[in-house]
Amino acid sequence: MTSDRPRASRTARRDARVAWTLAAVIALVVFLIDALTPLDIAIAVLYVVVVLLVASTGNRPATIATAWGCVFLTLAGFVLSHDELYSNGALARCAVSLLAIATTSVLTLRNMAATASLHREVEERKQAEQALERSEAFLLDAQRLSRTGSIATRLPEGPMWWSDEAYRIFDYTPDVVPSIEAILARTHPDDRAVVRGAHERAVGGAPQIDVEHRLAMPDGGLKYVHYVAHLAAPRADCIEYVGALMDVTETKLAQEALARSTAELAHVTRITMLGELAASIAHEVTQPIAAIVTCGDAALRWLNRPVPDMAEAKQSITQMIRDAKRASEVILRIRSMAKKRDRLPVTLDLNEIVEESVQLVRRELDEHRVDVRIDLAVPTPAVVCDRVQLQQVLINLIMNAAQALADTRGARRVRIETRRFDDQHAQVVVQDSGAGISEENASRLFNAFFTTKAEGTGMGLSICRSIVEAHGGRIWAESPEEGGAVLQFILPVEEGRRHEQ
Ligand SMILES: Nc1ncnc2c1ncn2[C@@H]1O[C@H](COP(=O)(O)OP(=O)(O)O)[C@@H](O)[C@H]1O
Ligand SMILES: [Mg+2]
Repeated sequence: MTSDRPRASRTARRDARVAWTLAAVIALVVFLIDALTPLDIAIAVLYVVVVLLVASTGNRPATIATAWGCVFLTLAGFVLSHDELYSNGALARCAVSLLAIATTSVLTLRNMAATASLHREVEERKQAEQALERSEAFLLDAQRLSRTGSIATRLPEGPMWWSDEAYRIFDYTPDVVPSIEAILARTHPDDRAVVRGAHERAVGGAPQIDVEHRLAMPDGGLKYVHYVAHLAAPRADCIEYVGALMDVTETKLAQEALARSTAELAHVTRITMLGELAASIAHEVTQPIAAIVTCGDAALRWLNRPVPDMAEAKQSITQMIRDAKRASEVILRIRSMAKKRDRLPVTLDLNEIVEESVQLVRRELDEHRVDVRIDLAVPTPAVVCDRVQLQQVLINLIMNAAQALADTRGARRVRIETRRFDDQHAQVVVQDSGAGISEENASRLFNAFFTTKAEGTGMGLSICRSIVEAHGGRIWAESPEEGGAVLQFILPVEEGRRHEQ
């Protein structure tokens, strides 16, 4: 087709050249005979041949110019051949010739205009056909890609039409005649009532049909389809629906999988939260309960002496009560933390809390033979914080430091420092001379349940991070070059004291 076109236009050009040459020769011959011979015939009539030849090239302006040229040549021939003697016969011949040229030209031009408009029409129809073919191809592709078939139905008893994709969705061969029975035969038995209902609504003339149902395929598979149709071109004797049938199996399965995994995730989250809560409580009360047991033992020992030392026993029992109270407070705080409410922030003296916390774990520190050094900032930073929670953070960090020193052969030192971090924050540093933190573990340290200890719960640092971040602070770990580990956190200082140094 592409090589035909240039060939056709080459032939047309050659034909046009021949016509032009022939026209020119005829015009010249006619003119010479007309002007130079004394023939008494209307030879100029032959100019119509010239006009027809030029018109055959299809060139309208050239045809008009040629017509005028022939008129001119006729008149010129007439003038040249008759000197001043214009006989009636000669005049009549000239008039006939002119009339013939004019009539032929007008008819030819009209004919040309009609032919051109016919050409245009043919061309337009050709283009429309091509566009239709293209859009049909697009539609087929789009139907295949989107798994959407078309169904047209004429009701109540009229024929039904399915697109190729609709056949594919129903898994029918093209020889099956589309019908509601054929659709029902593929419909899942549990959904047949739904499809029948939709069909009845359509017979009743509902403006829109929208139905989702399943197909039970011959291979035992299940498909989910969504059919949407609307009433088109209502006529007196019948109603016609045009609709789309979408295969939504993949979307449906993905939705179901998503719903399943969301439910599973919610379940896992609940279990994890419960687990974390239980583990946090267990972790945080271990220390006070151990302290209560130790104090109880001590009190018994003081009382069992031949001469009971009432003062010492009383002190041990007071400590027991203090630790028991703290254990119950810790449980309360963890529960409220899990619910993310009920913090009791008050302005606290950071140095005082550090000293209190060291007192609370003094016995464990002594047991591990840890040398504790405390460097406190002057003036003392004031932080807005929940007292029990801040104690929990400090106790967790100090206990971790003490545990890290358990297997150390060298010095067992823990240094606790408070200082200003910047204008808006105070900092607490807990440094030990233990084994330090491996690079591999550094990023997981604060994760719940991460532990490297046989008896560890992995909750301590995770609790610390929750508490510090809930108070607008930040906690992080470092491994200094001299060895050991540094765990430190910052907390916002109280508004009014921000710029005090
Ligand atoms: N001071 C420290 N020195 C070395 N490692 C530490 C220190 N503090 C914490 N870690 C590491 O972080 C892990 C998590 O600590 P933590 O959350 O308190 O849980 P647990 O103490 O129950 O193991 C510890 O198992 C340990 O490997
Ligand atoms: Mg710990």
